[in-house]
Amino acid sequence: MEVVILPTAADGGRVVADIVAAVLQRGEPVNLGLATGSSPLLAYRELIRRCRVGGLSFARAAAFLLDEYVGLPADHPESYRQVIRRELTDHVDIDPGAVHSPDGTSPDPVAAAADYENVLLAAGPIRVQILGIGTNGHLGFNEPGSSLASATRVKTLTRQTRADNARFFDGPNEVPRHVLTQGLGTISRAEHLVLTASGAHKAAAVAAAVEGPLTASCPASVLQLHPHATVVVDEAAAGRLANAEFYREIHEHKPAGQGY
Ligand code: F6R
Repeated sequence: MEVVILPTAADGGRVVADIVAAVLQRGEPVNLGLATGSSPLLAYRELIRRCRVGGLSFARAAAFLLDEYVGLPADHPESYRQVIRRELTDHVDIDPGAVHSPDGTSPDPVAAAADYENVLLAAGPIRVQILGIGTNGHLGFNEPGSSLASATRVKTLTRQTRADNARFFDGPNEVPRHVLTQGLGTISRAEHLVLTASGAHKAAAVAAAVEGPLTASCPASVLQLHPHATVVVDEAAAGRLANAEFYREIHEHKPAGQGY
């Protein structure tokens, strides 16, 4: 695992955009895994900017969302299929039909979860999976206690996550209780996991994920098992990492051409 500590969240957004841009620039068909929430927004804005002024193209990309609320109408502004359109895909040249997400409107969410897992299996590997982390260490919507080998399924959000996400709704009671999420096993099939976090409120979760024990109690600790995981954090989110100095030293002396 590589931990990249940068002065600001904007610096982190540029590094995440660099990673995504590098695979897009190969000009080959590519599957991208996208997170919603606040964490990737600066990276998405940077990617949009590079499309507008730098000729970057998503034309050969397919995108797969991590998760979706159960029960929100498809046109609800906080449904993740709408969020990703608003924050990224409506502003780049990706084929709208190539943007996939679990169907949170299905009357049978259990079947919808299995269907999405099958869509992912049929699509082939995700080249780069962008991830945020919950303040309780969740990854996707895999809350503490989630099997590290889990597949896409229905999950129940913790009170903490509903409180954390209340800012997007009219209070915590309006946040749906149930979600569809790629499992930790599903997420781990991606070739490169890129977790981004900023702010002191994420520091404990980042430290648990990176330096704590590998445990279902901190779902994001599954990154420790992955052969290619990059954690991009600002100084505040890095604030509780015991080995922060070492991670900075590694980054400072990164061999030329090593990439992320
Ligand atoms: C969203 C997702 C979640 C978020 C996490 C952090 O698709 O999978 O795991 O990444 O809840 O949310 P923010 O970035 O809003 O702090």
